Amino acid sequence: MSAATVPPVKTLPDAQTVTAVRHWTDALFSFRVSRPQSLRFKSGQFVMIGLMGDNGKPLLRAYSIASPAWDEELEFYSIKVPDGPLTSKLQHIQPGDEIILRPKPVGTLVHDALLPGKRVWFLATGTGIAPFASLMREPETYEKFDEVVMMHTCRTVAELEYGRELVESLKDDPLIGEMVGDKLKYYPTATREPFHHTGRITENLRSGKVFEDLGLTPMSPGTDRAMVCGSLAFNKDVMEVLESFGLREGANSEPREYVVEKAFVGDGV
Ligand code: FAD
Ligand code: A2P
Repeated sequence: MSAATVPPVKTLPDAQTVTAVRHWTDALFSFRVSRPQSLRFKSGQFVMIGLMGDNGKPLLRAYSIASPAWDEELEFYSIKVPDGPLTSKLQHIQPGDEIILRPKPVGTLVHDALLPGKRVWFLATGTGIAPFASLMREPETYEKFDEVVMMHTCRTVAELEYGRELVESLKDDPLIGEMVGDKLKYYPTATREPFHHTGRITENLRSGKVFEDLGLTPMSPGTDRAMVCGSLAFNKDVMEVLESFGLREGANSEPREYVVEKAFVGDGV
């Protein structure tokens, strides 16, 4: 083996190399890493990633894989928590650095956990869009559903940009652009700044505004499926709304009309 073909020395356990980093706001960034050859996952799942802690032990946190299952690399979309044990360090990674990635994907936001339907709703706040960044790029999403509605809500417009750019790029994606066609309806809202659409996801579903704005029929258990990812409070409130439309929570072991995952574990939860 010549020097040029010697693979880089992995210094961390389960090390993967950072290939790209992009900062979206002072509290949000995304990054891409090499993909372990053995890693198989379903779009929508999460893995444990992290860095070596000061005590010499791995400091790991759950992260949704934001890239689709077919991608050669893995993408993640991250918060920067001031003084957060992991993200106060992780936010400084650069291409060429290594992170730890435990190749054991898990999670409920997968197609297998939903019964077949006509329309699927992806409902996310904040970094909760990460699993849907994967699922919006997953061919199975468009094979299984005639319509896909991505509702994403953040406090500010700048926090919506990662999702906006991703949705915008899908049209021209050589791999899935044609499948996406006009099946994907994107409904971003900001709650604390003026924007063309405002209000919480829960309010826009309850009032029927989103159905009106997008020219869609209201949700019904016969046709609609949903996947939810946000704070604990958001998940709880949106589940109530989905139940009011007659949808029931499912799981991998028992597929039903909707599934839920926490985007993070809040203080004291
Ligand atoms: P921590 O000590 O873990 O968190 C400190 C506090 O920061 C928390 O108590 C909470 O109040 C707040 N917080 C943590 N994460 C977030 C967040 N994402 N949005 C808003 N507030 C937050 N985080 C991501 O950034 N991207 C992901 O794709 C992602 N996927 C997750 C999937 C699952 C199933 C779970 C349970 C969590 C996920 N998280 C994700 C959260 C992640 O595991 C860490 O909590 C986060 O990276 C912060 O780590 P930390 O060590 O800096 O701070
Ligand atoms: P709002 O600005 O009205 O609180 P956060 O940063 O607090 O996690 O919130 C992210 C986004 O989710 C914000 O737009 C916020 O709206 C919205 N949100 C927070 N809690 C809920 C909830 N319980 N139900 C619906 N939307 C929520």
